[in-house]
Amino acid sequence: MSELTLENIIIREASLNDAKILFELSNDDRVRENSINTDKIEWENHVNWLKEKIISSNYYIYLFFYDKNFIGQVKFEIEDKEAIISISIVNEYRGKKLAAPMLLKGIESFLKIAKNVEKIVAYIRPENQSSIKSFNKVGFNFHEQTMIKKIKFNKYFLVSKNSE
Ligand SMILES: CC(C)(COP(=O)(O)OP(=O)(O)OC[C@H]1O[C@@H](n2cnc3c(N)ncnc32)[C@H](O)[C@@H]1OP(=O)(O)O)[C@@H](O)C(=O)NCCC(=O)NCCS
Repeated sequence: MSELTLENIIIREASLNDAKILFELSNDDRVRENSINTDKIEWENHVNWLKEKIISSNYYIYLFFYDKNFIGQVKFEIEDKEAIISISIVNEYRGKKLAAPMLLKGIESFLKIAKNVEKIVAYIRPENQSSIKSFNKVGFNFHEQTMIKKIKFNKYFLVSKNSE
């Protein structure tokens, strides 16, 4: 097996064939705990959700692989000139400092396509330190604390170079 370095990590957009790996990752306890909707996801709802997102021109899901092993995802939802970003990494690949490089690669790929997006927004729970550190590392700045569904989230911004 090649070394776990950035050069050996492959990024590509998700397709419907990825439904199972995305389903497992999305139902991981830490992923659910840190999401806005913490309920477990049902398979049928997941497949319908993925079908809709794959054809949508406002939604981009990037998957990362190392030697054919699924590492995680970075996804974007466009709302006008802003895009909301989120990241999740498969349990076995956490703690290996992959989050920041994955964010960078994901953002780079996304901004090549989403030319009108001026700002990328991340909502992170204040206790989610590994996520906060990773977003800070790639240039996101704290904007404000906000309540979503009665849960406290920190809102972070990254201003896109596309806006210059
Ligand atoms: C958030 C997530 C993507 C971060 O990835 P990760 O593999 O755990 O983190 P990394 O190994 O890349 O480390 C990122 C930084 O956080 C630090 N860190 C890791 N775990 C930590 C912890 N429990 N407390 C504080 N810092 C921590 C690391 O030391 C590193 O900082 P450094 O480079 O300054 O030393 C991953 O934990 C995950 O998928 N979590 C579940 C889903 C989630 O929370 N998504 C984010 C929603 S906004």
